Amino acid sequence: MILEVKKLLKTFGGLVAVRDLDLTVNEGETVGLIGPNGSGKTTLFNLISGVLRPDRGEIRFNGRDITGLKPNRVCQTGIARTFQLTKPFEQMTALQNVMIGRMYGSEPVLSIKKAEEESEKILEFIGLGGKSLSMAATFGMVDRKRLEIARALATRPRLLLLDETMSGLTPAEMEDAVELVKAIGDSGVTLIVVEHVMKAILDISSRLIVLNYGQKIAEGLPQEVVNDKKVIEAYLGE
Ligand SMILES: Nc1ncnc2c1ncn2[C@@H]1O[C@H](COP(=O)(O)OP(=O)(O)OP(=O)(O)O)[C@@H](O)[C@H]1O
Ligand SMILES: [Mg+2]
Repeated sequence: MILEVKKLLKTFGGLVAVRDLDLTVNEGETVGLIGPNGSGKTTLFNLISGVLRPDRGEIRFNGRDITGLKPNRVCQTGIARTFQLTKPFEQMTALQNVMIGRMYGSEPVLSIKKAEEESEKILEFIGLGGKSLSMAATFGMVDRKRLEIARALATRPRLLLLDETMSGLTPAEMEDAVELVKAIGDSGVTLIVVEHVMKAILDISSRLIVLNYGQKIAEGLPQEVVNDKKVIEAYLGE
């Protein structure tokens, strides 16, 4: 078990965004995290990555209690995430954006030259090889999403949280993105993937977890979960 979330609770005023959530993720798994809009998926990522502090509950990574650690400390333990609303350093090149990840992650390199070489390789892998010297601000949505993943990978995560990196893609772009996520999984990184496009999530995930109103309502093999009555109701009830 690489990640263990126990009785996690997060409220915003009167709203319960994540309610007494228990979940575990095993090393090497790709877990699909689904649920209707507002069901708490991004909040869970914010809690795991240290962007938000839970009101209650515990998050253990790799056997260590990481609850309440600051985002940079969480990242150093080996967890990286992407943001649903992409957040590159706009006035820096793609390469510089990735280099920052490479120099401040879980296995940071201190040499600028080495960071540059490794970051070029990551950009190549992610499909941005030809654009490493372009300013992030000039990137369209597809490239911004790719850059977001590249930057996260550069921190050398053991666990990567992907938040809707495929929304808004054309079917062909989607196929590329699915292959990319599979390749990341094959490289040994454990993944939790939030995605609304059902075809993509079924293709990628070895297991699905479904949230509704901040609670886990189903989990298991993808095909079984999507046919679950509670899950269908949660989606149709929107
Ligand atoms: N910072 C915040 N302040 C107040 N309410 C918030 C905040 N962040 C999230 N919420 C609320 O918490 C609930 C869960 O939101 P969250 O963004 O986690 O959902 P989600 O599953 O990621 O949805 P989507 O699929 O639309 O991205 C929603 O009702 C949302 O409005
Ligand atoms: Mg979200």
